[in-house]
Amino acid sequence: MANVRVGFIGCGGIANGKHFPGMSTQEGVDMCAFCDLIIERAEKAAKEYGTPDAKVYTDYKELLADPTIDAVHVLTPNIAHCEITIAALEAGKHVLCEKPMAATEADAKKMLEARDRTGKMLTIGYQYRHFAENQVAKKVVDDGWLGDVYYAEATYLRRRGVPTWGVFTDKSKQGGGPLIDIGTHALDLTLFLMNNYDVEYVVGTSFEKLGTLLDPEHQGQVNHRGEFDNWNNETYDVEDSAVGHIKMKNGAVINLRASWAINMAEEYGANNQAFTMLAGTKGGLDTKENRVRLNHVVAAQPTISWVGNKVQPYIPGFSQGPAPKSKEAEIWVKALKGEGELFVTADQAYTVTKILDAIYYSSKHNKPVYFDEVTGRPIYD
Ligand SMILES: NC(=O)c1ccc[n+]([C@@H]2O[C@H](COP(=O)([O-])OP(=O)(O)OC[C@H]3O[C@@H](n4cnc5c(N)ncnc54)[C@H](O)[C@@H]3O)[C@@H](O)[C@H]2O)c1
Repeated sequence: MANVRVGFIGCGGIANGKHFPGMSTQEGVDMCAFCDLIIERAEKAAKEYGTPDAKVYTDYKELLADPTIDAVHVLTPNIAHCEITIAALEAGKHVLCEKPMAATEADAKKMLEARDRTGKMLTIGYQYRHFAENQVAKKVVDDGWLGDVYYAEATYLRRRGVPTWGVFTDKSKQGGGPLIDIGTHALDLTLFLMNNYDVEYVVGTSFEKLGTLLDPEHQGQVNHRGEFDNWNNETYDVEDSAVGHIKMKNGAVINLRASWAINMAEEYGANNQAFTMLAGTKGGLDTKENRVRLNHVVAAQPTISWVGNKVQPYIPGFSQGPAPKSKEAEIWVKALKGEGELFVTADQAYTVTKILDAIYYSSKHNKPVYFDEVTGRPIYD
């Protein structure tokens, strides 16, 4: 079987952090085209990861015109996901687009329609689903340990952690701040664990309190973890934290919290900022500190706890597998070869984006957002 030929549009942080290393470890893949507005980034990627004849571009349309390319990864700022993904699907390519699917619900809907129109595959880069603790949590839920999950908390909180590379604090390029950037992971994960995508209504608030107020000197003094540099408060124009209350059609509720900057007392470690809490009729679970704590029936203390590979003895059939970045690539390449199914469906990612969009709307207009019974789309009036 011929190798699958893959092109990459956007050669910045996530391309180098996840997509290039992840795809380079897969068999039967030619990483043959690289595009970035900054040509040096495309050239560097082609040199490090490309086939000997890999091509570089600054205009993604030229990359898409190459009929030998089977699939592309869309790794640009959020606002460009829709246009580039639709163009790629129309050009006959399968697409792995980074999260969030799009900056707005309307864009994400157009992407779904393009997928349906072209019959090409479309998936979104929600790799948190592959983390060991989240795989275990999924198995625990699916095996019925929790009973009916009726309440969840989806959390991605940084006390101080505003991304200072790229264009993350520019609303016109990203569509929003921490809610759309990291809240999107927490929400995707929670919907996935609950396997519940039927939303009744959403109420939310986004806060613009600290992003523009803190001067760089002050940022460095407030328990800043040093993971990220100080951000530029003069150009900051997105929210710094947000909360959402999501009511599902079956009565279940998800409370979503996301922040890049918030004055919470606790400082979560760099790897412990994203976690989910699930409450069911038989038991509860949380994934704090990258482990699964499960409280089965009603007990004062968790009855089982797993950390990393200690999971295996307790969950038959569970395999920790490769790192999330290569797991995502492995599943994607299998699907491209016709040997497997997509794991993150565009329909699931669309639901995440429509909820986030509705939270922003709810915050701006100070009212709940319901979803159309027939189309499932948010009702904005
Ligand atoms: N899955 C994750 O955990 C994760 C983590 C970080 C970022 N992301 C997502 O990845 C995307 C990119 O983020 P990043 O951190 O890599 O940002 P980045 O700024 O580091 O990289 C984006 C790159 O895209 C290029 N670009 C912009 N517009 C382009 C266009 N029209 N054509 C070609 N290239 C273009 C930029 O020059 C830049 O090099 C965002 O949507 C972000 O949400 C996902």
